[in-house]
Amino acid sequence: MLNIVIFGAPGSGKGTQSAKIVEKYGLDHISTGDVLRAEIAKGTELGNTAKALIDHGQLIPDELMVEILASKLDALSGSKGVIFDGFPRTIAQAGALKSMLNERGEDVTAMIELDVPEEELMVRLLKRGEESGRADDNEETIKKRLVVYAEQTAPLKDWYKNDGKHCYIKGSGELDRIFADIVAAIESKI
Ligand code: AP5
Ligand code: MG
Repeated sequence: MLNIVIFGAPGSGKGTQSAKIVEKYGLDHISTGDVLRAEIAKGTELGNTAKALIDHGQLIPDELMVEILASKLDALSGSKGVIFDGFPRTIAQAGALKSMLNERGEDVTAMIELDVPEEELMVRLLKRGEESGRADDNEETIKKRLVVYAEQTAPLKDWYKNDGKHCYIKGSGELDRIFADIVAAIESKI
């Protein structure tokens, strides 16, 4: 199985590039942000808990996220592999993902880091906020998300370097060039 972690700051293009990776490799896509937004839309208890945190740019607690991810993995059958979008976001989540995959005789194949300058992230997300109305795409919340990324999530780059899975991709510029770089990185790890 091909298990890809797509990684990067808010607005770095994880969702955009995941769609292209899914199309090429036929993988299942698990976006934890999408899962949480669906729960919010349904008005579930989990959704209410998530909304309060997402609106403030904060992370959902690790235990809860790991539980959600495990249930998504269990629900897959006959999968060719998974693209993990927005998970892991903390060292604890990275360790939990490795254990969950190892228990299934699997591992992460590659961690793809999309690197985009902060000024560009802000421009992209403010624009998306105007167009799609995603509740956390406003200047105040974006700033908090970027701080949380730098403090809690960016350390995962070194974690995955130590695990031999990290691939660096310049995440600004043409979508197709970025995608070609991602494909080359994935192929180098297969
Ligand atoms: P999540 O939904 O994962 O949001 P995020 O990480 O902030 O990232 P985005 O989805 O905003 O951006 P993206 O990287 O997918 O970029 P996109 O392709 O959309 O998480 C939301 C919240 O949920 C978190 O803040 C947290 O509270 C919670 N959460 C989720 N997972 C969690 C976890 N594991 N643990 C704890 N809490 C969790 O692109 C962005 C925009 O840029 C788009 O408009 C796109 O069209 C444009 N764009 C893309 N590529 C380019 C390009 N090359 N050039 C120009 N524009 C581009
Ligand atoms: Mg996304």
